[in-house]
Amino acid sequence: MSATVLPGHPQVARSAGTLHVEGCSLAALAREHGTPLFVYSRQWMLDALAAYQRGFAGRDAMVCYAMKANSSLGVLRVFAEAGCGFDIVSGGELARALAVGAEPSRIIFSGVGKSRAEMRQALAAGIGCFNVESEAEIDVLNEVALAEGRRAPISIRINPNVDPKTHPYISTGLKGNKFGVAHDRAVATYRHAAGLPGLEVVGIDCHIGSQITEAAPYLDALERVLDLVEAIEAAGIPLRHLDFGGGLGIDYSSPNDRQSPPAADALWRQLLARIDARGFGDRKLVIEPGRSLVGNAGVCVTEVLYTKPGEDKNFCIVDAAMNDLPRPAMYQAFHAIVPVAGEGEPAPVVYDVVGPVCESGDWIGRDRALAVQPGDLLAVLSAGAYCMSMASNYNTRGRAAEVLVSGEQARLIRQRESVEDQLRSERA
Ligand code: LLP
Repeated sequence: MSATVLPGHPQVARSAGTLHVEGCSLAALAREHGTPLFVYSRQWMLDALAAYQRGFAGRDAMVCYAMKANSSLGVLRVFAEAGCGFDIVSGGELARALAVGAEPSRIIFSGVGKSRAEMRQALAAGIGCFNVESEAEIDVLNEVALAEGRRAPISIRINPNVDPKTHPYISTGLKGNKFGVAHDRAVATYRHAAGLPGLEVVGIDCHIGSQITEAAPYLDALERVLDLVEAIEAAGIPLRHLDFGGGLGIDYSSPNDRQSPPAADALWRQLLARIDARGFGDRKLVIEPGRSLVGNAGVCVTEVLYTKPGEDKNFCIVDAAMNDLPRPAMYQAFHAIVPVAGEGEPAPVVYDVVGPVCESGDWIGRDRALAVQPGDLLAVLSAGAYCMSMASNYNTRGRAAEVLVSGEQARLIRQRESVEDQLRSERA
């Protein structure tokens, strides 16, 4: 059977007239599990991870999957089995990592607002590193660790003040962002932390933003971080590991704004050349990629409910909405949308593809030429990252089901959320 791979989406191919993820037909999966339905390719995740591993071949490096991108247990298990560590940002994410058998020493805890309870939980689990972001947090972690009779391993996240040239909501390494400790204060903050008995300084951390599609911001941030490593070590504080965060973008195949981020292995070849040239090639490297490990592994299958001609616009109303796919509403993000059954009858019409939620912001794609009628299925591409993990119950809509595909095998990894599931924890 001949298959045509969708450009930019090697995990999605059209074969026998219908879209497939690996060897599984999306039409068949939608019949079995209903819509909206997220379908993920295990192989795409493993290939994405392998690109980082190639980049780090022969190095002491740890890839910690930033599970905020997609924290479904079935997805986490793929990465845990492949030997990945995890980057977490809450006690809830810690529980997820432990539930899939993650090795605690390979867990790092990021985020600007860890609570004391979360700190205790992570100390008890024996995580590898806390990435701390302020002097106030450093003091609280010291206090909590002493009370627990432990020493907390820490890296300080520094804000290198570089522009990652991405959407303002997902850039994090600029002066005006809430993240990290200012570059100018970094050495003083390290001195302060190194003097506290409940803490053990082990590394330095930096994350400049997300959906970064060029190497230049990484190279700028790298130089600034290495300058600081020199200054911190000159102050007598050795750093065992260097954590460069996540942020590498994926190709969303937007026709207006074609993004072609560097491949993970190519990017790391460039960065490692600079790290070596500056004499830090012997340090352990840590990274926290999220989107680039899952983004293009996933599609969301949705059914066309109605088409509606409007005065200015035509609307294609589908059963997925902003509660399932929040990125267009939140960041005006582009996701490619393709008919599962291929282009057929009727002739294509330009539609805004919208969901049933009662908000004008509830759109999934604007001005898309589609040949569809009610009952047809559409696949929203690049839906593996920051879709299900950001899904909500707005309008009392249950969260979608999820399927993990491996070759011709498909496994339901999340049941569709029922209304009973939603009402269970409430009291009238
Ligand atoms: N490390 C830290 C400290 C982070 O804050 C993030 C993402 C990552 C790693 C992973 O970044 P990635 O490799 O996935 O770019 N919801 C937005 C993206 C928010 C990113 C938040 N931080 C979106 O849908 O575009």
